[in-house]
Amino acid sequence: MSALIELSDVSKSYDIGNTFFALKGVNLKVNEGDFVSIIGQSGSGKSTLLHILGLLDKPSSGTVSFDSNIVSGIPEDGLATIRRDNIGFVFQAFNLSPNMSVSRNVELPLMIRGVPASERIAKVEKTLAMVGILDKKDRIPSELSGGQKQRVAIARALVINPRILLADEPTGNLDSVTGTAVLNFISSLHKDYNITLILVTHDQIVASHAHRTIHIKDGRIDSDVSKAHHANAKKNK
Ligand SMILES: Nc1ncnc2c1ncn2[C@@H]1O[C@H](COP(=O)(O)OP(=O)(O)OP(=O)(O)O)[C@@H](O)[C@H]1O
Ligand SMILES: [Mg+2]
Repeated sequence: MSALIELSDVSKSYDIGNTFFALKGVNLKVNEGDFVSIIGQSGSGKSTLLHILGLLDKPSSGTVSFDSNIVSGIPEDGLATIRRDNIGFVFQAFNLSPNMSVSRNVELPLMIRGVPASERIAKVEKTLAMVGILDKKDRIPSELSGGQKQRVAIARALVINPRILLADEPTGNLDSVTGTAVLNFISSLHKDYNITLILVTHDQIVASHAHRTIHIKDGRIDSDVSKAHHANAKKNK
């Protein structure tokens, strides 16, 4: 099977007086329909890796392929088009627009895509219903709980029907009960819509929901383990 996203020998360095490598020679294939968790300690390179997988950031060296095309060299507007058409992001800090209603926040990606106004409302309401907060559509984010805000952020990522959903510590700002509910919801997206899911977390329990777990240590892949349906886990190559 050809990979949906493939990283070949990807490194990311920052010049901070000396050169610091946040990622070192990473090789990774993510297939359509995968549910991957990325775990590792703070500072190990998880967000850096997620941003490169989501074409939000470019490697310092190595190549990134999307749908079998090398995209790491193409200009930002080309990457923006691929992201707009394929990729939804959910961040730890929600990143909602504070002065816009819930509906408007979720409508924004459709406006950017040029979806006609007549179609937008139906799509927004359907997605809000899917995440269970349609009744909050006219509220602004500050009037919502953390879990509700994260559901808005998930709705905003999903409204474009992305092939891939990338989430960076989506439960990091939530209490454990709310976090579990949000996580169960995200997991159900994989099951119900076969969406490709990549989830960054430092929580082993959260990671255990995924079918494949990649452990990052000091900018390298320390292990990459797929869970079989039975107890016999197999190692990815
Ligand atoms: N813009 C930057 N300039 C310099 N160093 C950076 C920059 N961004 C990230 N780093 C460094 O790269 C390393 C990896 O950062 P990254 O954000 O990927 O870690 P992380 O695994 O997501 O950590 P956390 O769990 O705390 O979110 C860290 O040591 C960080 O300090
Ligand atoms: Mg991070």
